[in-house]
Amino acid sequence: MMRLAERTAFVTGAANGIGEASARRLAADGARVVLTDIEKNRLDEVTQSIADTGAQAISYLLDVRDRAQIQAIFDDVEQKWGVPHILAHIAGTVVVEHYLDISDENWNRVLDINLKGTFLVTQIAARAMVKANIPGSIVMMASTNGLVAEEDLAPYNASKFGVVGLTKTMAIDLARFNIRVNSVNPGLIKTRLTSSIWEDPAATKAYEDQRIPMRRLGTPEEVAACVAFLASDDASYVTGHSLVVDGGQLTF
Ligand SMILES: NC(=O)c1ccc[n+]([C@@H]2O[C@H](COP(=O)([O-])OP(=O)(O)OC[C@H]3O[C@@H](n4cnc5c(N)ncnc54)[C@H](O)[C@@H]3O)[C@@H](O)[C@H]2O)c1
Repeated sequence: MMRLAERTAFVTGAANGIGEASARRLAADGARVVLTDIEKNRLDEVTQSIADTGAQAISYLLDVRDRAQIQAIFDDVEQKWGVPHILAHIAGTVVVEHYLDISDENWNRVLDINLKGTFLVTQIAARAMVKANIPGSIVMMASTNGLVAEEDLAPYNASKFGVVGLTKTMAIDLARFNIRVNSVNPGLIKTRLTSSIWEDPAATKAYEDQRIPMRRLGTPEEVAACVAFLASDDASYVTGHSLVVDGGQLTF
C-alpha cells in the first residue's frame, strides 16, 4: 500500500515550482490532494495533469493572506473529503533589495505572504485537525535563509527565520494533539523564484563554484521528496525539525 493512501493533503503554492512538485509527489505517494494557489490557469493545468495520473485532485483559488477565504476552503474540503491529515504550506514570495532601499510596501508584502500567511493557514489547519481529533503532519517551507542570512534579502530572511521559529513553537504546542510540525529549508532550487540567478551563467557559476559543495542547483522534486517524507509516518518521531536540502551549502 502506498504510504499516504487514505490521507488528504492540502497544498498551498501548488501551481508552480516546489509547491507543484510537492503536490505531484504527495499524489504519487497515494494522497488525495487539494491544490491551492493565486494563479488560476496554471493551477487548473497542474490539477488536471495530476488527475490524469489517476490520483484524486481538486483545486481552489486561495490567497494565503485571507483568513476568511482559507477558512471557507478548509470547510468545503472537510465536507468533501474530511479534515486534511497533511498540510504542505509552500506558497511564498521574495523581494531582492538592499536594506536601505526597502519600502514599507515591499516589507509588508513579503512578511504578509511568507509569515502571516503561514500563521493563518497553519492555525486553520491545526484547529481543524484538533477538532476532528486526527493525527496530523504540517510541513512548512522555510529556507536556508531561515537559518543564515544572505545579502539584499532582509524581509525574506526575516520571514523565513520567523517560519523556523513558528515551526518550533507549533511543534511544542501541538505535540499533545498528535500533530507533528516541521519545516523544509531548501538552498538554491531551480524555480522561477530564483530565475535571476540561474538565467545568468556568471551568477550560476559563482554559486556552483563557491557556495554549493555539490556544485549544482537543486530541483523542485528533490525538495518535494523531503516534504513527502516529513508528511508521512516514516517521520513519525520527527517534530520541530528544519530539514535542510541545499547540496551542502550550509556546511561552509
Ligand atoms: N526556489 C528556491 O531556491 C527556494 C529556496 C528556499 C525556499 N523556497 C521557498 O519555496 C516556496 C516555493 O517557492 P518556489 O521557488 O517554488 O517559487 P514559485 O514562484 O515557483 O512558487 C511560489 C508559488 O506561490 C504562489 N503564491 C505567491 N503568493 C501567494 C499568495 N499570496 N497566496 C497563495 N499562493 C501564493 C505563487 O503563485 C506560486 O505558485 C516559497 O515559500 C519559497 O520561499 C524556495
